Amino acid sequence: MLVQLTVNGKPVQADVPDNTLLVQMIRDTLHLTGTHVGCDTSQCGACTVMMNGNAVKSCSVLAASANGADIGTIEGLAQQDGTLHPMQAAFKECHGLQCGYCTPGMVMSSIDLVNKNPDASEQEIRDSLEGNICRCTGYQNIVRAVQSGRDAMMA
Ligand code: FES
Ligand code: FES
Repeated sequence: MLVQLTVNGKPVQADVPDNTLLVQMIRDTLHLTGTHVGCDTSQCGACTVMMNGNAVKSCSVLAASANGADIGTIEGLAQQDGTLHPMQAAFKECHGLQCGYCTPGMVMSSIDLVNKNPDASEQEIRDSLEGNICRCTGYQNIVRAVQSGRDAMMA
């Protein structure tokens, strides 16, 4: 099936098998490997991308059903000159990552949270990141990063 998307602001298209997952198209066809696969069963959140303005687990979306969608991946967040998105910078500054495997999904989910609930309490941040699993950090610094990134995004 011919799937047409806008990815990080650029129109792309690819002929992919009907059962291709969105994460497979992003990683294997478009070679945007910042979106990770941690479980393939919709549990870990490593594959989280923005789809039409909402964070989605791209391992749970068929590429075909995303046809025509506006997709945002971690590669599209920084500016052309390399300046990080405020949420990326906050994760770096607050040590919100160790191995980094979960980080692209965490950052995308965190931006979605701030867009939808900029006044989120610490508990609401923790609740909203329940679908993103981190095996390294213990989450404390991730929560700090989200709070710091939120402040920078709202400034
Ligand atoms: S790879 Fe999609 S949720 Fe884990
Ligand atoms: S930083 Fe390693 S899984 Fe989160």
